[in-house]
Amino acid sequence: MNEKSDHHDEQLFLTFSPDDMTLSERNHIMLGGIAPRPIALVGTISGAGHINLAPFSFYNALSANPPIVAFSPAFRGSDGSPKHTLLNILETGEFTINAVTSSMVEQVSLTSADYPAGVDEFVKAGLTKRTSEVIQPPGVAESPFIMECKLYDHQDFGGGPGSGNLVLGEVLRFHVSQSVYIDGRLDPFKLDLIGRMGGAWYCRASGPALVEIAKPRHVGIGIDALPDWIRTSSVLTGNDLARLAGVERLPDADDLRRRWREHLANDAPVSPGAFDEALEQGDSWKARAILVSQLKAPSRELQALANDLQRLCRVYLRAGDIEAAWECAWLGGEEKLREITEKHTERRRGKMTETHLTIEGMSCDHCVMAVRKALERLPVNVKDVRVGSALVSFDESVIGMEQLKQAVEEAGYTIVESSAP
Ligand SMILES: Cc1cc2nc3c(=O)[nH]c(=O)nc-3n(C[C@H](O)[C@H](O)[C@H](O)COP(=O)(O)O)c2cc1C
Repeated sequence: MNEKSDHHDEQLFLTFSPDDMTLSERNHIMLGGIAPRPIALVGTISGAGHINLAPFSFYNALSANPPIVAFSPAFRGSDGSPKHTLLNILETGEFTINAVTSSMVEQVSLTSADYPAGVDEFVKAGLTKRTSEVIQPPGVAESPFIMECKLYDHQDFGGGPGSGNLVLGEVLRFHVSQSVYIDGRLDPFKLDLIGRMGGAWYCRASGPALVEIAKPRHVGIGIDALPDWIRTSSVLTGNDLARLAGVERLPDADDLRRRWREHLANDAPVSPGAFDEALEQGDSWKARAILVSQLKAPSRELQALANDLQRLCRVYLRAGDIEAAWECAWLGGEEKLREITEKHTERRRGKMTETHLTIEGMSCDHCVMAVRKALERLPVNVKDVRVGSALVSFDESVIGMEQLKQAVEEAGYTIVESSAP
């Protein structure tokens, strides 16, 4: 049970012991719970030269060095007899594994019917043989990914009805259709593979079913290192927390505080509209502008504001903007909110100084833009910036003239005079 179980309803589990279950019950529970499984469409040839084709979803890759794959043809549940695939492999030591795409799944299902030995399922299912390079059994030409394998090892698990046979194969050749091989990688969108679930269910790995989760680029701080009010949030899910916890170090609280003060100091125009609507549309810019306006003069419960900040955090997480997500997660605690909003209110009570800055060398639209940008990063109200001058107002207890000068200098210009208008 993970830490979040403290904050969510615990699941009620039913527990089964395999010894108390029938073969069919065990089969169902394993097929349902171990899913989705890749499907190996296995091509074999008997010692007498009969070609066979059948699908197996107890299948996976086990090693890249050497390249080893494994699948498990079970002894038939009905009478404990071995499947033709197993017999052929034990006879010849060779097989092909062909990936199954959604465009061929019905044909693949047909090959799984219990045809008598000697019946060629390629023919029954209308699939095309592709001659292999170094082994006898053919591949399936309709499949975009074919492996030629030789038997590496075999282990049976008891020999009774339904008991599996671990067949390990070493891959001797990989064949990849050029149509799915993009920039030296198998493209999951082009592959359109299909997996096996429990019962009669399959799942298609394509379109919106494909989810890209970036590999951690570094060792993340971990969920245990998140501040309490983030870790115990009732809005953020385990996945959300994991994304926040993937950062290399905890963002600096002073830096986050400063960023929020800047957001609050900036008189960004508040676009009309409801926060919920903006969130639904994934318009994080608008949603944040609405929240900032509420933070400036909080009329709602702080807890409600904190929840909205966490909801906005989720939008940023989904968009992959971890920095903005952290800003929202960090402020999404009542205590932090109180601190920031109270400080802001105090400031608003402070005396605002309005001043005209005469700026040397600022003689074109481009310069005006540069100076405006530099000023907008500060907690000042930028009222007007035009060629040669800027009009700003600011709270002297928050920011001094020196910082204003420095920002303008960083943009490449110099304040030569400042005066009350
Ligand atoms: C998608 C799919 C996956 C399957 N996976 C397995 C499996 O992992 N193990 C198994 O023994 N049978 C599995 N079967 C059933 C075999 O394909 C079926 O028993 C087939 O008749 C065996 O053929 P053979 O006797 O020619 O080898 C699967 C069937 C389907 C449709």
